[in-house]
Amino acid sequence: DCRLSAVPSVVARCPRPGVDKGPISLVEAGLIEQLADLGWQVNFDGHHQFEEVNALADPPIGKLKNPRLVSRVTESVAKVVGGHAKNGELPVTLGGDHSLAMGTISGTLEQYPDACVVWIDAHADINTVETTDSGNIHGMPVSFLLGIGTSVPEFAWVKPLLKADRLVYIGLRDVDAGEKRILKEHNIKAFSMHEVDKYGIGKVVEMALDHVNPKRDRPIHLSFDVDALDPSVAPSTGTPVRGGLTFREGHYICEEIWATGLLVALDLMEVNPSLADPASVQQTVTIGCSLVRSALGETLL
Ligand code: ARG
Ligand code: MN
Ligand code: MN
Ligand code: MN
Repeated sequence: DCRLSAVPSVVARCPRPGVDKGPISLVEAGLIEQLADLGWQVNFDGHHQFEEVNALADPPIGKLKNPRLVSRVTESVAKVVGGHAKNGELPVTLGGDHSLAMGTISGTLEQYPDACVVWIDAHADINTVETTDSGNIHGMPVSFLLGIGTSVPEFAWVKPLLKADRLVYIGLRDVDAGEKRILKEHNIKAFSMHEVDKYGIGKVVEMALDHVNPKRDRPIHLSFDVDALDPSVAPSTGTPVRGGLTFREGHYICEEIWATGLLVALDLMEVNPSLADPASVQQTVTIGCSLVRSALGETLL
């Protein structure tokens, strides 16, 4: 199989055992077998074990919630993802909240400094210590990766390896005022649902790639937050926002990224089965699996 010679294996992982059943539900739904059927040699890491940080011993730093736990988990994810990338494997990270992308993208950029990031999300996740309202670190990973905002000593391990012109968003529709300012100030390219409506998903993906990858020669890290999809399509997620991508628009993005031949790492984040009725959970998990398959080479014909 030519896919196997291009990229010898895919590595799936599932951080935060016990806290979040999202990741393992994709594996239980048969994702690993499905990827093997596509011709991948899959090394499933299983749940990565992280030391439990007692919530009482992890008081907020400023507004930031659970800063030590998030820092330790994401740092550990960075090492694991970076290590697999170094081996020529294509790491697939199933989350879990999107703060994990601090780890996955750090790992990718360590190995591929010229990589670009395609971030599919309803949210920009680019709040800084100054702009965050919620204090939820899942709303902040991009600012840490870019090195903008006041730095937090607890996260000193995150190197600002991501350049603003190597990042592009698709699907945004719930962006905080402070985040809008940051996007403008740093000239960050973002295709909101308005642009998806206006130009269609085909044109939007083309424009997005033209921006971050004009010569189609840079490795691509695809970070896909399942809440980019409309809640009618993927209901089991922590921060659903109406007016999102259709089933096909979501899959089309994955198919086009795969077709570039440049994908080096994939995140599928924010699947959270504890948040809905069984039918909605089943629907979201099934779609999570098919998004991953599309990004890893499944075609319609
Ligand atoms: N902008 C909001 C915040 O900073 C929502 C972020 C949602 N992000 C997520 N990964 N679910 O809290
Ligand atoms: Mn491993
Ligand atoms: Mn997100
Ligand atoms: Mn989101």
